[in-house]
Amino acid sequence: MKKMSSLLALSLVTAILCGIWSFAAEAAGLPGWAGFAGCTAYFASGKHGAAGLKKAIPTNLTGVLCAVAIITLSDLAPALGSAGVWCALLTFVMCILAKYELFDYCPGTFIGCFSTFAAGGDWMVLAPVLVFGAFLAAACDYGGVRLYEAVTGNYKRNGGKIMTNEQLIAEAKKAREHAYTPYSHFQVGAALLTKDGRLYHGCNIENAAYGPTNCAERTAFFKAVYEGEREFEKIAIVGGPQGEEADVMCAPCGVCRQVMMEFCNPKTFQIVLADGKGKWIERTLEEMLPFGFGPDNLK
Ligand code: THU
Repeated sequence: MKKMSSLLALSLVTAILCGIWSFAAEAAGLPGWAGFAGCTAYFASGKHGAAGLKKAIPTNLTGVLCAVAIITLSDLAPALGSAGVWCALLTFVMCILAKYELFDYCPGTFIGCFSTFAAGGDWMVLAPVLVFGAFLAAACDYGGVRLYEAVTGNYKRNGGKIMTNEQLIAEAKKAREHAYTPYSHFQVGAALLTKDGRLYHGCNIENAAYGPTNCAERTAFFKAVYEGEREFEKIAIVGGPQGEEADVMCAPCGVCRQVMMEFCNPKTFQIVLADGKGKWIERTLEEMLPFGFGPDNLK
């Protein structure tokens, strides 16, 4: 029986750390709310650990920079336009920057921007507090996982550490060795992590009639669902020609994306695509299957 949900663990740790921050900020004369803005930027990114910090911090700081530009330009050259005109221009810049991966988390940029206005343009205090807020959120996130593990005995960890994408990819590589591929000789492995931290491996299993072939991702899902799992956190996939390290990243086929849609929240379920040389990217199911059709459509 579950003694604690991961949400309860996260809520408790967040309450304690945010409470401490609130007291400390007040005592130090810092804008406590700005810490929570940085914190929100991290959590709303849907990413965890270093990936969450990488989403929140660069975008927050870009937003601060844009707000400072709006304020400075409006003061320096009022004849060239009101704050409204500069605001329109810089807002455009904040949106268009999203084409670069480092800045593609637009909500972070806007949080940084409006927080600067809320701080009266005092970016020298605001910017470090926003960055601190992102770290505060990462600490709540990490602490929540640790508390959950300590109370329930379910491990999101592997070998004493939080299961990193690299470790999940290593599991997908192990799974790949089990592939049955006498026809395509293309071997795929998948490692599926449940919300409770359990791991399910899958490989592709081919068939002389070709059509009944099962992909690695679906093998992992079907094994897990049979075992009673219904809540999933992420999947790592590695695929390439038999007997070789995967050269390029192998993306899940459309059928597998649809199977994920049945069991996963498209906004939060993460798909990690990796090659055999240490390169990987992480995308949500919604990014991989926009406007997906799922159980909610039938409600
Ligand atoms: N395959 C997978 O297992 N997963 C994917 O995401 C793409 C394709 C398998 C199916 C088949 O056995 C082989 O790769 C070639 O299509």
